[in-house]
Amino acid sequence: MNHDENIVWHSQTVSREQKQQHKGHKPVLLWYTGLSGSGKSTIANAVEAKLFELGCHTYLLDGDNVRMGLNKGLTFSDEDRIENIRRISEVAKLFVDAGLIVSTAFISPFKADRVQARSIVNEGEFVEVFIDTPLSVCESRDPKGLYKKARAGEIPNFTGISSAFDVPEAPELHVKTAEQSIEQSVEQIIQYLKANKIIK
Ligand code: ADX
Repeated sequence: MNHDENIVWHSQTVSREQKQQHKGHKPVLLWYTGLSGSGKSTIANAVEAKLFELGCHTYLLDGDNVRMGLNKGLTFSDEDRIENIRRISEVAKLFVDAGLIVSTAFISPFKADRVQARSIVNEGEFVEVFIDTPLSVCESRDPKGLYKKARAGEIPNFTGISSAFDVPEAPELHVKTAEQSIEQSVEQIIQYLKANKIIK
């Protein structure tokens, strides 16, 4: 028996527009993507701090933390990464519906999954932020010592080494962390949000 047949979508009384007005900014999903060690979490955290300072309502979903809770038990096989991103995009969509500026900081290596995440929020509400840091730089930073282990063959399916990363073709924001400071990267993102009238 298909239980889905008995589920009916319930319209809500408080509209998106009302929530938006209440918040004083538009809702948006800042979808950070990039290699491990590229700086996604660092920049997403710094942008969130800046947005908070500006009086915005924000929420940050961050890789390692989500894998310890909601997505506990998922591995780094292609199949599990797809499920990881699917769940994250659905949760992010809920927060966007609540009127927040949501940031997700996950490798999200596969183009199809990023396209899918984009497709479930409204037009203009998905901002792909490519944290473009060359593999060699990520590897020299190696903040968690994982590249060293991956090179030694101790971590299978490691992104950039033994698992693919589809380079974003047309991200809304292309952030080159090897060429500018964290502050400059934050400013680049904040300016985009202002120029597109997401924040004031
Ligand atoms: S994703 O590919 O499914 O989007 P996610 O962002 O959740 O990845 O998790 C990536 C983090 O998990 C990395 O920053 C790193 O700390 C850790 N990690 C552990 N194993 C791997 C692996 N095989 N490949 C990439 N990252 C890994």
